[in-house]
Amino acid sequence: MARRPVPPKDLLSVSDIASDLDRLLVRAEALKTERARGVKRPLLAGRNLGMIFEKPSTRTRVSFEVAMNDLGGHAIYLSSRDLQLGRGETIADTARVLSRFVDAVSYRAFHHADMVELARWASVPVINALDDLEHPCQVTADLLTMRERWRGRFAGRRLAWVGDGNNVLHSLLLGAAAVGLSLSVATPSGYRPQPEYVRAAEVLTRGTKATVSLTTDPEEAVRGADAIYTDVWVSMGEESETKAREEAFRGFQVNDALVALAKASAFVLHDLPAHRGQEITDSVLDGPRSAAWDQAENRLHAQKAILERFLGPRTRPRVRQ
Ligand code: CP
Ligand code: NVA
Repeated sequence: MARRPVPPKDLLSVSDIASDLDRLLVRAEALKTERARGVKRPLLAGRNLGMIFEKPSTRTRVSFEVAMNDLGGHAIYLSSRDLQLGRGETIADTARVLSRFVDAVSYRAFHHADMVELARWASVPVINALDDLEHPCQVTADLLTMRERWRGRFAGRRLAWVGDGNNVLHSLLLGAAAVGLSLSVATPSGYRPQPEYVRAAEVLTRGTKATVSLTTDPEEAVRGADAIYTDVWVSMGEESETKAREEAFRGFQVNDALVALAKASAFVLHDLPAHRGQEITDSVLDGPRSAAWDQAENRLHAQKAILERFLGPRTRPRVRQ
């Protein structure tokens, strides 16, 4: 009998959940329905999550905390500035010590290499809460939002990305491909996604009818699309590039004229926080086609499914180092 492969210990990239994504989204939807009905299940009773943040956060922090609380567990906010990490204690030592206290660690990092280092030394699961390469929790919520609006079916749908070839796009390339959703990406020529992510997405789309295409023309990407997604032009940690980026991204604003090129039923996604008047206009973000607020709420439901998957009762026991 074929044995199911052992699931990875950590969620560092969407590739760690790619084979499981459909099931994770179904579970997130079920947890959302339960919450709406006022049902609370202590699926993570007695479990503790340590949350290391090197960068600010509103949605990720609060959704992790509320998710742990709703599931009967506890979350501890750890600003890297206040940890000994900020005074030079190594990531490896931090990982080994935290693993003696908590059942999982979420980490928002500047550098993906630090994420990998933390996961290497932690005996407990590490969940990527955003780094310079990926934002897997965000994209799980994004797919949940699209799945709801398309009544569970991604096949035959196309999402247009307009903006930077950044961490969110990398995760979206993998996530969309994994669920069979086509993606048209428009970025300025110097801001394309890393080619490894495009190649990995192309591999994941094999066996589906989904496609991945890249262009430097936002209109080409958006024309006939079922949804449009944009993100900030300047991500956290890139502030010194602000001027050059504002120049390069002129023409990549998601405004009413651009949205009019998509299908009449198309909706608009933004992971937030938004820079209103830059990558998106007030009229689009606050308008009837904006899905951004549902998308933000879905961070909570997606995070619950992720937490249950990575630190729930069915998780393997860990050997402590
Ligand atoms: N979208 C997102 O990750 O938001 P925060 O930076 O507020 O966590
Ligand atoms: N690309 C953005 C996402 C913020 C949630 C950043 O990294 O700052």
